[in-house]
Amino acid sequence: MRILSGIQPSGNLHLGNYFGAIAQFLEKQNAGDELFIFIADWHALTTVKNPADLRRSVLEVAAAYLALGLNPEKVTLYKQSDIKEIPEFTWILNCIAPMGLLERAHSFKDKKAKGFEASVGLFDYPVLMAADILIVKPGGVPVGKDQKQHVEIARDLADKFNHLYGETFELPDPIIPTEVATIPGVDGEKMSKSYKNTIDLFGSDAELKKQVMGIVTSSTPKGEPLDYAKCNVFAIYKLLGSETEIHALKEKYRNGEVGYGDAKKMLLEKIHEKFDAAREKFAQLMQNPKEVEAVLTKGALKARKIAEVTLAEVRKKVGLSS
Ligand code: ADP
Ligand code: TRP
Repeated sequence: MRILSGIQPSGNLHLGNYFGAIAQFLEKQNAGDELFIFIADWHALTTVKNPADLRRSVLEVAAAYLALGLNPEKVTLYKQSDIKEIPEFTWILNCIAPMGLLERAHSFKDKKAKGFEASVGLFDYPVLMAADILIVKPGGVPVGKDQKQHVEIARDLADKFNHLYGETFELPDPIIPTEVATIPGVDGEKMSKSYKNTIDLFGSDAELKKQVMGIVTSSTPKGEPLDYAKCNVFAIYKLLGSETEIHALKEKYRNGEVGYGDAKKMLLEKIHEKFDAAREKFAQLMQNPKEVEAVLTKGALKARKIAEVTLAEVRKKVGLSS
């Protein structure tokens, strides 16, 4: 199946992003799906106003995905803003998108409710998203729960286009990973950069240690049994350890053989074991941005070929000269 997903280039990637999104992409890549993954830099412009930050985040996200194992031979990785057909298609979709539909979109409603001044770009965010989805004609779109409504808007617009201009788009299905629980952060709430409770994948060794040692626990002293089911350290360890290791740690919690400090050290070791190769690769790619840019350029060429064909078909159907 052709699968497409976009990622906003903002902030450092954390364990929640890895287990909630990136691990799924790697699985799909290895299962032989046709994957299109792009960095949504036009979407990011709705919030990021500093050009250097935007440039750096785009590079970081691309380097992170490559370092974590996305294989550019198998996956088409590109920057949204390299696909010049998207804005024209967005305009065409704008002309069939009901205002009411967009007024009900969470992205717009939530930011407005929080008192942010809403730009026209923010209001139009779901239509841009519909364009970057539909232009590649994917069957499935993996997204977090928060993005489901946007994929539904893309389906509504595809359906409306089909009714007005004739069958053109298959309706893409949102793929919401159900089996992935919400990954807790260092305070036990959902790990999220907006809560500042993350364990970042690519921070320095010292930062990583500080984040892990800062995980909030109860104050039960070492020597007394600990409740692993209520422990934030264990909740994260569980994602990384083998079944035998998880079982062994459970026993130690029950018997009072470990204190929280020991458990944190074990977790830190596990994180290093799982991610050190990727952390090194990431540092190396950040030193060689040209290597990353070459991957993005190649990906854009491939995605653009598909986008050109879709846009030509769309232009013809709506009555623009092709
Ligand atoms: P953040 O909450 O840090 O801003 P994003 O909203 O940018 O993270 O999330 C990007 C992707 O990572 C989404 O697909 C989302 O489902 C996944 N993700 C983020 N945080 C978590 C988490 N704590 N648990 C599971 N998945 C997560
Ligand atoms: N809006 C998505 C997010 O914030 C990113 C995104 C943009 C996207 N275009 C997309 C996701 C198309 C899936 C498909 O996470």
